[in-house]
Amino acid sequence: MPAIRRLLVASSKGGVGKSTTALGLAAAFSDLGKRTLLVDLDTTSRSLDLLTGSADKALFGFGDLFTEKPVEDMLLTPFADRPELMLLCAMTGRRLRELSKERGMSADELLRAGVERVLDWDGYDMLVCDTGGGLDAACAAASCFDLTLVVSEQSRTSIRAAEYAASRLERAGADRMRLCICSFDLDAVKKEHRAGMIEMIDSSFLQCVGVVPFDKNLQSAQDRGELPAKRSPSAAAYRNIARRILGYEVPLFDGMPSYASRRKRAL
Ligand SMILES: Nc1ncnc2c1ncn2[C@@H]1O[C@H](COP(=O)(O)OP(=O)(O)OP(=O)(O)O)[C@@H](O)[C@H]1O
Ligand SMILES: [Mg+2]
Repeated sequence: MPAIRRLLVASSKGGVGKSTTALGLAAAFSDLGKRTLLVDLDTTSRSLDLLTGSADKALFGFGDLFTEKPVEDMLLTPFADRPELMLLCAMTGRRLRELSKERGMSADELLRAGVERVLDWDGYDMLVCDTGGGLDAACAAASCFDLTLVVSEQSRTSIRAAEYAASRLERAGADRMRLCICSFDLDAVKKEHRAGMIEMIDSSFLQCVGVVPFDKNLQSAQDRGELPAKRSPSAAAYRNIARRILGYEVPLFDGMPSYASRRKRAL
């Protein structure tokens, strides 16, 4: 597989873990020494400034890509101990409408033009782009990326949304797609007959890049605008996915001993 540098994170359903995945992967790439640019393309439920505790510092964002300002001047480094991780905040839906009118471009054309400018910037090793649930922005930009991660949690509505998203993104020109399973509850597969990994892979018609377990501590970290601890199961899972994307062979639950010992249940 040719080297992957530019990743899009998408699903047609809201609240399935797209932003968590985009941030978790960006943090994992930066841990692996990659200069990583995280881009928030979600104009309706933008959240990466909040999840990184940098809402107060977000003076510039995606909308400023349509000015003469250099890209590096629009970026934040949200975590002092991770200078490798840079964030380009989203613009609001209102700003998108204003800019579209000013420039005589549709919202999709404008978003794609912004994505093209930021992808052309030479200051990153890896770029991860978060999108909103409606898929419009994701489809507008899909053909610019090396890999699209379609995010799904275990609910059957979310899995169906992943299948739908994959077929729309494929028509929009997405090159390679993988399923990223989020908030996975291994015990619920047997006890509550929730979908296991094989059912999710079969139903979405996508190859799976990895599984992120349900992690209560992740939610409280997000409320504080912090990343989960590096030793937490969700951080380990995102590290595994990041390494697979970089071409390493990584066992399903590497670094997650309590999941590795119950591996069969996940399937
Ligand atoms: N592995 C996980 N463990 C526990 N909770 C999780 C996990 N992944 C995501 N969540 C929670 O799920 C909720 C939705 O996550 P997130 O905001 O990333 O979804 P989204 O798809 O980006 O939503 P939206 O469509 O609104 O942008 C959040 O409360 C988040 O904390
Ligand atoms: Mg989101």
